[in-house]
Amino acid sequence: LQTEALAKVEEASSLQELQDIRVAYLGKKGPITEVLRGMGKLSKEERPVIGDLANKVREAIATELDAKKANLEAVELEKKLEEEQIDVTLPGRPVQVGGPHLLTSIVEEIEDLFISMGFEVREGPEVETDYYNFEALNLPKGHPARDMQDSFYITEELLLRTHTSPVQARTMGEYKGSQPVKMICPGKVYRRDTDDATHSHQFTQVEGLYVDKDVRMSDLKGVLNRFAKQFFGEEREIRLRPSFFPFTEPSVEMDISCKVCHGKGCSVCKGTGWIEILGGGMVHPRVLEMAGYDPNVYSGFAFGMGPERIAMLKYGVDDIRHFYTNDVRFLKQYHKA
Ligand code: PHE
Repeated sequence: LQTEALAKVEEASSLQELQDIRVAYLGKKGPITEVLRGMGKLSKEERPVIGDLANKVREAIATELDAKKANLEAVELEKKLEEEQIDVTLPGRPVQVGGPHLLTSIVEEIEDLFISMGFEVREGPEVETDYYNFEALNLPKGHPARDMQDSFYITEELLLRTHTSPVQARTMGEYKGSQPVKMICPGKVYRRDTDDATHSHQFTQVEGLYVDKDVRMSDLKGVLNRFAKQFFGEEREIRLRPSFFPFTEPSVEMDISCKVCHGKGCSVCKGTGWIEILGGGMVHPRVLEMAGYDPNVYSGFAFGMGPERIAMLKYGVDDIRHFYTNDVRFLKQYHKA
């Protein structure tokens, strides 16, 4: 029996085969168990002899099985290592590196410029109250100018802000009428509009506000002139046209002289040679008053610009939807090396 079993172990070529042999010879139904079970029928003299023999046979087979098992496992591991070898000399797959979105870069550039002129950067909520979005900006309920900005209302008193101007009122309110305010506020704004190449239901604005004693229109013009030259080139001129916003008086729209340069070269824009770029004006006395500033002591200017529009002019982007459809081919063009 022992010879037969050991021969089989020797021949076995897989762990499964080995397990089968173990069950066949050493298992509960195997011959050795049977011998040991039949011990009761043997005589007193026979019992130790047979028992001893059976145990020796079992041990011999078990030892051999274990040795073969270790052997086979080693072979299998070797095979596995062989198969799963990694060729470290293969060139790696390049990792796709992202970069800031064009709008993010533009907003950061605007921030840097205004920080250098002493403005602080603030933020405000995108879900805004009717009070801050309209009322505090001299747009009482029923004011026809509310229609200039078709709104997404959430409740009667809450809406998605239609501009960043509510942050003017919030900031002045925080400063409690007792100290100058010099801030810009970038952020998302929302309007009920049908999306096309030049309209979007959601876009970005950067608000600016400077309130102090003796702030004048010429200060506004100076700051905006610096901005225009920095962003579009020192050769640019600006002009202020009279306009209307309920929260500024007088109100202006700013044009820049347009020679638009981008990758493909420069083109002088059609028509008047000027292109509208932002709105602004002197903060309306009622807006100052509502925020706790005495309009007889303080005056201020405010402006609001659209980074999408600025990016479109600066880089010749022809469709505002490029900013949010996020085609990587579009985005990549503006990643700095
Ligand atoms: N909030 C105005 C708009 O969205 C822009 C603006 C800001 C005008 C500040 C004047 C002063 O059109």
